[in-house]
Amino acid sequence: MNILSPSILAADFKRLGEQIKEVEDAGASYLHIDVMDGVFVPSISFGMPVISSIRSGTDLFFDVHLMIQNPQWYLKEFADAGADLINFHLEAAENPAAVIRTVKSLGKKAGITIKPATPAEAVRPYLKMVDMVLVMTVEPGFGGQAILPECLDKVRAIRAMVEEQRLKTAIQVDGGIRIDNVGQALDAGANVIVSGSAVFRGNITANVTEFLKKLS
Ligand code: DX5
Ligand code: ZN
Repeated sequence: MNILSPSILAADFKRLGEQIKEVEDAGASYLHIDVMDGVFVPSISFGMPVISSIRSGTDLFFDVHLMIQNPQWYLKEFADAGADLINFHLEAAENPAAVIRTVKSLGKKAGITIKPATPAEAVRPYLKMVDMVLVMTVEPGFGGQAILPECLDKVRAIRAMVEEQRLKTAIQVDGGIRIDNVGQALDAGANVIVSGSAVFRGNITANVTEFLKKLS
């Protein structure tokens, strides 16, 4: 089953609650939540208080993408704020296996994320431990960028590893995914699709409906 995970980074924050309700009513089941610290990535977005505040207004599955240095320092806080899945960057963690174990011990799903320059092979040692691999299809830090299509080769490589080892690991893509290229991401083997600007710009309900049609 393919899943759409709308990224609230592209939402209108003065109407955040309403817009989350709109993606939920349109049939989305996940919500992608981008946390940026201004250190691991150049930009700063939001953190735990926003997550705990929106948690009370929706039943969506909170797919939290941590673009922060030293994710190990904040895992309990994100779990307590309402994350269902915590994705952290392989490049940002001193001991990725320990981060994964901590996330699991908090009762949450764990995901590992790689930037465009990080090879697919880098996730191999963690593949059996995680619920999801997130393959960035843009440089993390900003919404609204164009997809780097060469990143889809890494999705193909990781899909092959998952099949070969008969795992159930989800493969997520994030960055520059739109209605007109989502088919390429699915063909490459992604099954969880993040989209920010292509969901929140324009008619949200119509955008979610169109994505869900492509994903079915
Ligand atoms: C980028 C974020 C993305 C971003 C995607 O660093 O991780 O989740 O919100 O936005 P679009 O879909 O507009 O590229
Ligand atoms: Zn993201």
